[in-house]
Amino acid sequence: MGFIEVNHIHFHYDAEEGMEPVTVLEDMSLQIRAGEFVAVLGHNGSGKSTLAKHLNAILVPQSGKVTVDGMDTADEENLLSIRQRVGMVFQNPDNQIVATVVEEDVAFALENMGVEPPEIRRRVDEALRMVDMYAYREHAPHQLSGGQKQRVAIAGVIAMRPECIVLDEPTAMLDPRGRREVMRTIRQLNEEEGITVVLITHYMDEAAQAGRVVVVDNGRLLLDGTPRQVFSHVDVLREVGLDVPQATLLAHELCASGLNLPDDILDENDFIEAFLRRMEGR
Ligand SMILES: Nc1ncnc2c1ncn2[C@@H]1O[C@H](COP(=O)(O)OP(=O)(O)O)[C@@H](O)[C@H]1O
Ligand SMILES: [Mg+2]
Repeated sequence: MGFIEVNHIHFHYDAEEGMEPVTVLEDMSLQIRAGEFVAVLGHNGSGKSTLAKHLNAILVPQSGKVTVDGMDTADEENLLSIRQRVGMVFQNPDNQIVATVVEEDVAFALENMGVEPPEIRRRVDEALRMVDMYAYREHAPHQLSGGQKQRVAIAGVIAMRPECIVLDEPTAMLDPRGRREVMRTIRQLNEEEGITVVLITHYMDEAAQAGRVVVVDNGRLLLDGTPRQVFSHVDVLREVGLDVPQATLLAHELCASGLNLPDDILDENDFIEAFLRRMEGR
């Protein structure tokens, strides 16, 4: 059984006056195992954020069922336990930072939960070290770069000691350097701390870093597999408005014009290796 189980859920937002409700999730099923790093891809409006909000009971399905660690998200009694286990990080770090000092911001939720001050101190320091922002603990968040702010927001979630973090396009507002910092942090949390990660992104290179990629289209699950498996479906991905990594695309185009290259090329290194092997074989 998965840590998070999404079983045949349907979801629509309430219709506006005189309008038909638009179905956003349609018979969606997805299992996320403890320790996984899952990337969720899909074009704008495909239902990614709506799905993410079902993973920690911000939204509950109109039919079907979501469980977290065996707990039904539709049961209000489970709400606190679920929110403690699954933390959410959103796109805009400015909307997530509430305090005027970094360490106070990371402590905020713990203080609200009534955690004892010495324990708060321990957890805040630990969380700031995990995101590599300990040196900035006494800084003002507004002086930080976007990538640093987003890492502080992640620390605020990590301080709750969740088993899983769901990040909804956490790098969308960042510059390339901020994106790299945040991606490195996410990978470390997964690999070194064993935290389950669900990363919603529209960057193919970010999805390629996950252990598993799922592609959502029109509220349904279209593809599910390792990055290599998923990105080998170049034509399916392009049909639903998604790119593939550049090296994958180049290999695909060369294949189409008669050069026999493997279909599971993810990055430049894969490409060069396969290309050289091909040339040697001639
Ligand atoms: N709060 C809301 N009320 C009504 N419709 C919404 C709301 N949020 C999203 N939608 C609609 O639901 C669909 C899916 O949105 P969303 O889950 O945000 O997709 P994504 O994150 O993949 O861009 C879109 O058509 C969007 O306009
Ligand atoms: Mg979204």
